[in-house]
Amino acid sequence: MHQDSLTSQESQSPDAHFLGIRQRSLDLIEGFSAEDLQIQSMPDASPGKWHLAHTTWFFDHFILRSHQHNYRPFDNRFDYLFNSYYDAVGSRHARPERGLLSRPSLQQVLDYRNQVDLAITELLEKHGDNSALQTLVVTGLHHEMQHQELMLTDLKHALSRNIFALPEHKASARNGATIESRFIRYYESITRIGANDEGFSYDCEKPKHRVFLEPYELRNTLITNREWLQFMADEGYQNPTWWLSDGWFYCQKAQWRAPLYWREHQDGWEEMTFEGYQPVVLDAPVCHISYYEADAFCRWAGWRLPTEYEWEHSVRSAGKSHGHFAEQTPWHPQPPTSETEGLCQAQGTVWEWTSSAFSPYPGFQPLQGALGEYNGKFMANQFVLKGGSCATPAEQMRFSYRNFFHPYQRWQFSGVRPARNIDL
Ligand SMILES: [Fe+2]
Repeated sequence: MHQDSLTSQESQSPDAHFLGIRQRSLDLIEGFSAEDLQIQSMPDASPGKWHLAHTTWFFDHFILRSHQHNYRPFDNRFDYLFNSYYDAVGSRHARPERGLLSRPSLQQVLDYRNQVDLAITELLEKHGDNSALQTLVVTGLHHEMQHQELMLTDLKHALSRNIFALPEHKASARNGATIESRFIRYYESITRIGANDEGFSYDCEKPKHRVFLEPYELRNTLITNREWLQFMADEGYQNPTWWLSDGWFYCQKAQWRAPLYWREHQDGWEEMTFEGYQPVVLDAPVCHISYYEADAFCRWAGWRLPTEYEWEHSVRSAGKSHGHFAEQTPWHPQPPTSETEGLCQAQGTVWEWTSSAFSPYPGFQPLQGALGEYNGKFMANQFVLKGGSCATPAEQMRFSYRNFFHPYQRWQFSGVRPARNIDL
C-alpha cells in the first residue's frame, strides 16, 4: 500500500483492478436514464454520457494508439468529440456544447467502453510487466475516478434544474454525535509537503519539499449548517465587510443568499440531495459553498482559511480517516458519528477550501508530452482544496492530493474547516 494513501485496498491483479474501477463508473449511473445522461446544465458541468466516453478516450488515445500493434480505433472522430482540453492532441468540440452531442448514442458509448476495456485487458495480459504501460493505465484509472466524482456533481446540478426530477422527500432531521468544537494547536515546524515517487501521484503533488510553518491552530470540526445559519442570520450575505472584493461582486451578481441547493421553505431551510429536498441538518457540515463564501464566513467569525501546508501537516500528523467517501451512500455529507480525539471528518465528507493558490511546488516538472497539460496549465486563478468528499472514490485520496477550483465555483461538495493565528 502506498504510504500516503488515506485508505487501504486489497491487492488485485492489474486487469481486475482496471475492470473494477471501470465498472464503478457504470454502477454510478444505475437509476439514471439516457436522457439524464445527455443534458448539460452549465458550461462547467458535462453530461454523464460525455464523462463515460471521455474517460474511455483517455485509454484509447494515450495508451492503445501507442502500445497496441495494428490498433483500429472504435471511431476516429472521437478524438475530436471527447478530447477535453489537450491542445497537443488537436482541435476539439466546444466544452459548453457537450450537451448537444446526441450522437453517438449512450449505447454506442457503452459499446466503445466495452471495446476499449477488452483491448486494455488484452494489453495488460501480454505486457503487464511493462512499467511505462502500468503507469499509464494507473493514470487513466485515477483520471476515471476523478470523473466519477465529476459525474455525480454534474448530475446533481442537472437534476437541480428540473423541479420534477427528484421526489419531495422530507426526512426527519438526523442528529449526529455531539462533538465539541475546539482548535488544535500546532507548533512552529519545518514540515515535508507533497508526494514522493512511491505509489501514484499527479505531477502537481511533487516534488516533496520542505515548508516552514509558523504556529497555528486548526479546528477539529468542519463548519456546520447550524453555524452557517448564524452567518446568514447576521446578514453575512448582505454585508460587504466580510467579503473579498471579487467575492462580493459574485455574491451580488448571482444573488447568493445561502449555499447552493438550499431553498427556503415555510418550515425552514431545505437542501437538495440525491434523495430529494430535505430539511437542513444542523449538525452536518455545510456544503456547496464557494471559496469566497468560505473566506467571508471565516472573516465574520474572526478566523481564516488554513493554507494547504497547514492542512496537510495537521492531517498527516493525525493519520486517520473519519469521514465518508463515495463508496458509502448517501452522497451527502453527514453529521459526525463519534467522538474523536483529533481532527474530525478530515478525509472524505467535504472538500476543504484552503487559502493556497494552485501553483507549482519548487522544482515542479510537468509530465512529458500532452499529459503535461493535465495539471500544470491550470496553475492560475484557482485555489487548492484538500481531503476529498462524500462523492470521491476512497482509493483516489492521499494526503498530498491537490484538488483545485475557481473561487466562485460551488457545485462541488466543498466545505470549510477554519484555522486561526496564534499571538506570537
Ligand atoms: Fe478528463
